[in-house]
Parts: sequence; C-alpha cells; structure tokens
Amino acid sequence: SQACDIYAAGGTPCVAAHSTTRALYASYNGSLYQVRRSSDNATQNIGLLSAGGYANAAAQDSFCARTTCVITVIYDQSGRGNHLTQAPPGGFSGPAAGGYDNLAVATAAPTMVGGHKAYGVFVAPGTGYRNNNTNGIARGDQPEGMYAVFDGTHYNAGCCFDYGNAETNSRDNGNGTMEAIYFGNIKVWGYGTGNGPWVMADLENGLFSGANPGYNAGNPTVSHRYLTAIVKGEPNHWSIRAGNAQSGNLSTYYNGARPNAAGYNPMKKEGAIILGIGGDNSNSSAGTFYEGVMTTGYPTDATENAVQASIVAAGYTTAARPSGTPAAGTSISLRATTACCTGRYVRHQNDQAVTSVITSASSSLDKNDATWIVRNGLAYSACVSFESKNYPGSYLRHSNYQLYRNANDGSALFANDATFCPQPGLNGQGLSWASFNFPNRLLRHYNNIVYIGSEGGSNTFDSATSWADDVSWVVASPWA
Ligand code: AHR
Ligand code: AHR
Repeated sequence: SQACDIYAAGGTPCVAAHSTTRALYASYNGSLYQVRRSSDNATQNIGLLSAGGYANAAAQDSFCARTTCVITVIYDQSGRGNHLTQAPPGGFSGPAAGGYDNLAVATAAPTMVGGHKAYGVFVAPGTGYRNNNTNGIARGDQPEGMYAVFDGTHYNAGCCFDYGNAETNSRDNGNGTMEAIYFGNIKVWGYGTGNGPWVMADLENGLFSGANPGYNAGNPTVSHRYLTAIVKGEPNHWSIRAGNAQSGNLSTYYNGARPNAAGYNPMKKEGAIILGIGGDNSNSSAGTFYEGVMTTGYPTDATENAVQASIVAAGYTTAARPSGTPAAGTSISLRATTACCTGRYVRHQNDQAVTSVITSASSSLDKNDATWIVRNGLAYSACVSFESKNYPGSYLRHSNYQLYRNANDGSALFANDATFCPQPGLNGQGLSWASFNFPNRLLRHYNNIVYIGSEGGSNTFDSATSWADDVSWVVASPWA
C-alpha cells in the first residue's frame, strides 16, 4: 500500500496528495502533473506507467524534446481537486507576468525512483505553486498532518521553501494563519543545531524549530539527499519529525505544546496550499520537492512510521548525469554546434565569455582562454562549474544573463551564477547547460557572445531562431 492508503487506514486520510514521481495511492491511475513546452505553448498531462506505480517520464521527454518544459499543474491524487498551479501575487509579487511566480522547469530535478526515471519539482528562487480555493484542508485549529520528500542538499536562506497550509489571500494574516513544513537554512526566525538546513514549521511570522522562537537544541541540521520531513498540528499540540527517505526511521525533533509566543494557540489556519514559497508569497527560497501530502486529523507516529517505510520501499536514488558529462577535474573545450559556428569555442576575452574560432594554429593564449576545467558545481555538486584554465579560481558565471570569467568571491550568488546543470543537447549533439538559479535559461551563443537565454524570451539573445543549435555544445578535447 502507498502513503495515502496508510494514512486512511490510520483514520487520518489524505485530503491532498501531490507527486511528480509516483502514485500515492495503490489505486491511483490518473495524471500526476501537466507540462507546457516553450516551443509552441502546448500542454500535456504526464501520468503513470501503471496504476499505483511510477511516473511516465518518457512521455515528458518525448513531448519536451528540443525545447524547454515547465510544470504547469501538480495534480491532487486525493480526488478533492486540490491541484497546485502557478502561485499568484500576494504580499509579495513573483517575477513572472502579472506578478505570478515562475513555474518549475520540468527537467531540472531528475531522479530515479523504483528503478524508473522521474522528475521532481525544482524550485529556483522566484518559483512557486499554490491553491487558494481548497477542499477538505484544515481550517482554524483543526488537526492535520503533512509530509514531504525533499532534496536535502538543495536549499537556501531565502524565505521560505514551504509545503503545506497557508493563507487563502496570499497575504500575511498574522501569527497562526499558516502551518507548513519549511526546509532551508534561513536564521531570521527559528533554527537548530549546526549551520542548517533545518526542518521547521512555518506558522506565519515565524519558522519554529521547537517550542521557542529562535534556537531549539532538539532540532538538528539534516541534509539527506532524499529527506522525509513532517509537521503536524492539533489543538495546543504539534510535532516536527524527519528522516532519511532512502533508509531507516523517522526521528522526532519536537513534540509538545504550541510555541512560547503569542498568537499560535489556538491556530487560525486558512487552508490554502503552498509549495516553494512563504504564506505571503515570499519567493526567494530554493528547494526540490518530489512528493507530499496533507491529511485531515492528526496522524499517529505509528502511521507516519509506516508511511516512512513505504517511502523507503519506493526506492529513491540519484539519476546518473547525462551521458557525455565530463567528470570533475577534466579539462575540456566547449564547441558550438550551430552551422555558422562549428569551429567556435567558448572562451574568455577581456573577462567576457564569447565564442572564437580556435584551430591548432591558434595562439597559446587563445587556446588557454578556450579551455575550462570541470569542477563539481559550486552551488550543487551534481551540476558543474567551469574553472578557467589560465585563471585558476576564476569561473564562467552569468551576470545580467551574460557570461563572464570572474574570480570566485565565495558568495552564494557567485556559486549559483557559476553552476550549470547538464542535459542532453537539445539538437541531439553534445550537451545543453541550464543555469542553476535560472533553470529556464540555457548557455547560448548569440552574435558570438555567450548568454543564458530562455527560448523566445524578451531579450534579443532569447531569440527562438536556431535555438536548439545555439544551446547545444560538444564537449571537446581541451585546446590547452
Ligand atoms: O513565517 C515566515 C514567513 O513570514 C511566512 O512564510 C511569510 O508569510 C511571512 O513573510
Ligand atoms: O545573470 C542574472 C543575474 O544577474 C545574476 O544572478 C546576478 O549576478 C546578476 O544580478
């Protein structure tokens, strides 16, 4: 049986069940999510390989071939219609049209589950999903439980990577108007031991790691690659639990009365559902979501322990990098594949990244400028960074969507700007490289200058003309 079958057997059934990777009921055989591709704005639902089973990722791959897809809907498997869609503006506006948040890029969080390829929901800052008109979600001080499986190595210190119960008007309606799982290392409100990240409860105007605002010694730094995170609440009682989604049991980080702060007892839950954002549509957070549910009623620890066992049995493992991805430490050159430019390589010149024709007769300087040492991604080790061969400590990074060679200043921004995630080349050659912090943008040459472009976007370098070719790069032997 699957997670929601277990919650139902425990008397606390799911009232929302979201996953892009698998069914959360043994009988579920509907769509998991919907994708939209940038080439023609067509949409397609992605379903399961079999009832109760795993996502049909191959359907996404064929629909999204040569283009970029975003996840437009994450369907609710509970039958209550509590689907998640692009979050609207609220207390804060998002970066997309109309103040909406961005949608997640559908290929940005590849994973394996049960031996099958699948994709999670990759929340780069600015991304968010919401449902402000739900059915059956806890209101007021009603009891509820929630779990989610996250990538415990993808997080940041922005507010607030949440999944759970929030305000129905996307605004901060005061203490106790939300109750959601939070994951990340922001220290503005609560925190625990170590440097984070922590699993905490977002109860509005406060992330709580336990009874006290601020520090609670019972809440450890936790960063399993696949992380099960739990928050549940009932009148004057709540709990935080977490564990490794690949093995073992849950630990309880807090189990007790409502926080030692005014306004959280009784709770004033409103029953919207958020993913990747704060209650007021704060949208500077990052994380990856694979699955999660909300229940009616306060689940027992025993029920959750059985759910954890079912998550472990589902078998999450990391996806291999696309074939041809160079290993860390390898020196490479990156060759363009557009017909105009097949003799051109990414090189730095006057600190900018451009493409230049390089041949065996080129100067040693040109050859060195066109050679990069592949490093584990500065912001995320499954992706890569490109260190300059002749300027050690300098990396290819974007700024205002243009690429430069800059010295690593050690900042989180630099690490994000210098991290690129490989995918099979969109034109069938080599690899394409998605920006880690702007995952809808791929490394692209335009007029021989290198940018991160988004297909058909508003900048000249986003031009859809020769898009698939301009974003596909052959990983060549190093010139130097
Ligand atoms: O509680 C932390 C955050 O504070 C909430 O997510 C947001 O609504 C508010 O800014
Ligand atoms: O390239 C886009 C953004 O521009 C980068 O993240 C930042 O460095 C600059 O503001």
